[in-house]
Amino acid sequence: MGGFGYPKRREQPKKHEGEGSMASNKRLLVLPGDGIGPEVMGEVRRVIDWMDRRRAVSFDVEEDLVGGAAFDAHGTPLHDNTMARAHEVDAVLLGAVGGPKWDSLPFGQKPERGLLRLRKEMGLFANLRPALCFEALVEASSLKPEIVSGLDLMIVRELTGGVYFGEPRGIEELPDGERRGINTQVYTTEEIRRVAAVAFELARKRGSKLCSVEKANVMESGVLWREEVTKLHGEGYEDVELSHMYADNCAMQLVRYPKQFDVIVTDNLFGDMLSDEAAMLTGSLGMLPSASLGATDETGRRKALYEPVHGSAPDITGEGKANPLATLLSFAMALRYSFDLADDADLIERAVEKVLADGKRTGDIAGPGGQAISTEAMGSALIEELDRMAA
Ligand code: IPM
Ligand code: MG
Repeated sequence: MGGFGYPKRREQPKKHEGEGSMASNKRLLVLPGDGIGPEVMGEVRRVIDWMDRRRAVSFDVEEDLVGGAAFDAHGTPLHDNTMARAHEVDAVLLGAVGGPKWDSLPFGQKPERGLLRLRKEMGLFANLRPALCFEALVEASSLKPEIVSGLDLMIVRELTGGVYFGEPRGIEELPDGERRGINTQVYTTEEIRRVAAVAFELARKRGSKLCSVEKANVMESGVLWREEVTKLHGEGYEDVELSHMYADNCAMQLVRYPKQFDVIVTDNLFGDMLSDEAAMLTGSLGMLPSASLGATDETGRRKALYEPVHGSAPDITGEGKANPLATLLSFAMALRYSFDLADDADLIERAVEKVLADGKRTGDIAGPGGQAISTEAMGSALIEELDRMAA
């Protein structure tokens, strides 16, 4: 089995010049956020402490507020100081944002705006969402075991463009008293090319297959998307097998025969939806990590934010039921992509695999009638496993 975000063939991601220097200043900004965010992050902090003690890998960990928690403290879902810190650190690890408490806030103050501002201002245009089915969880999927067993696909979602940010947007009053809600789907050549390049590179290190997804049958932005991805393919990525699919068909193919996919590249909105769908194939949203990456600078560094694909789960907040594995696996992706610590990332991923194989389950993956353990017990099981593996 490949690791999360890990090339299928177990090759290391290519190193950029100067990347080695990254390991020396490991500044990590932790933003637990709302709902189950602080609970799951608490377990990840235990693993970070463990690494400090047992692997001599220490991080300069700073913690701050985002989302509803930041709104309650500062009247804004992301304080400018927090934004500034996010720019300075080597990586940001985020829990989750949002909850019913803040639902009636004006749009610009909603918890989600804090996350969207981080993505936009850090320039995190490539969102990597691996969907990998742990063998021990094959039964937890709502699909038949033979459909999901061995599943290992990667969705590359464009994250700073499209309808999420397009202008014009808003809700306006019409002269006749009607109201009109407006959002704009817009993509430029460069926005398409840079995310497609990330996807081609990733595909090359995995199964060498890329499926580009849009709705070119109804949207001009989709036509452009298809043309630009095709053009880029011809400019040095011919070794990767490229196919195109309409987003609705892709949604259907994901439940029909998901193993046909290696890497999928798609826009912000389709990527949001298709990644939730792909996540569920693997048994639970509580398992899936993600990495959001910006452009590489002259020194080989990328701005990066890591977060679970799941949300703040207000329905189970404070009950100790949340699954901390998606956030922990997001931290493992940070080790791999931002800190050049692939061995440590491997160790965490193997510990997760082992703990699951031992039958440890939080409620989301316990299955009907299965025995569920608490968030904290899952954290403890992991630490024990890490102790055993490092002994
Ligand atoms: C995600 C989430 C976010 C999104 C929300 C919380 C703004 O659903 O990361 O998938 O829509 O991008
Ligand atoms: Mg989503």
